[in-house]
Amino acid sequence: MEILVKAHAKINLSLDVLRKRDDGYHDLEMVMTSLALCDDISIRITEGSQITASSNVPFLPSDQKNIAVLAAMRFFQALNLPPQQVEIYMHKRIPVAAGLAGGSADAAAVLKGLNALLDTKCSPSQLAEIGGSLGSDVTYCLTGGTMFAQGKGEILSPLPPLPPCHIVLSRPAFSIKTPELFGQIQPKKIVHRPDTQGLIKALFTGDLSTTSHYMYNVFEDVLDSRGEAVSHIKNTLLDQGAQGALMTGTGPCVFGLFAEEEAAQKAYHLLKEKNSATFLTQVFDQSNG
Ligand code: C5P
Repeated sequence: MEILVKAHAKINLSLDVLRKRDDGYHDLEMVMTSLALCDDISIRITEGSQITASSNVPFLPSDQKNIAVLAAMRFFQALNLPPQQVEIYMHKRIPVAAGLAGGSADAAAVLKGLNALLDTKCSPSQLAEIGGSLGSDVTYCLTGGTMFAQGKGEILSPLPPLPPCHIVLSRPAFSIKTPELFGQIQPKKIVHRPDTQGLIKALFTGDLSTTSHYMYNVFEDVLDSRGEAVSHIKNTLLDQGAQGALMTGTGPCVFGLFAEEEAAQKAYHLLKEKNSATFLTQVFDQSNG
């Protein structure tokens, strides 16, 4: 038995940190949207009782340190299913640890794939509960699309899709650990915040330029010297005609939204010359999904 599931990357059109919670997490307000850029996740069930993952990225773990394997384990546990041999192959295109929710998307794809393959008829809320136990972005990745996310990121309200556009992504060479950046942010001292309601209203107008104008991520302001690499990419994207440019999630990947394909192509080639971790993609149109 085998199934292939696409795991789509996401970008944050906004990210605000409201407060630190008693459980150590933070209450957030985010607007996120799915990209056409995706990993291909193949899930095969054969004889045996081991759950393993392999991929085209050599450094990814093959055991439960890989969130895709953990997702499969939690799925079997939550549904009280007898152990089975699950072989997950991940053809990764989404850059790892970049703010694009690649790992969370892979985990969500495993949950959806196993639910379909084993015909377990797990309800969306049951899947969301398992997803939420794996990571804050996994619940969003189960549905994808353009969403307003609150709480830890698991309270989701659908929004009109981001207007069609061309998206250039570029990942600066440095890495950021998500807990490190959350540790640096002091919600009460944040001076500049996104106008999240303004962004949501802009999405309802369907206008790319107005929507881009409202994009803001509070984590860009706590980057110290690493912010220079982010600013450099943002400026390049804006100079080449992006309607807006932003770091996604806790970074470090930066994206620009372009109305014109030609301008996006130019920006893509310019950034790709210096940085191979540069991508040209689009909004994921779920109706063609
Ligand atoms: O949920 P996830 O494992 O993806 O979160 C990684 C880390 O990010 C957490 O350990 C926590 O430090 C931080 N985080 C947070 N508040 C959130 C989401 C994540 O503080 N809402």
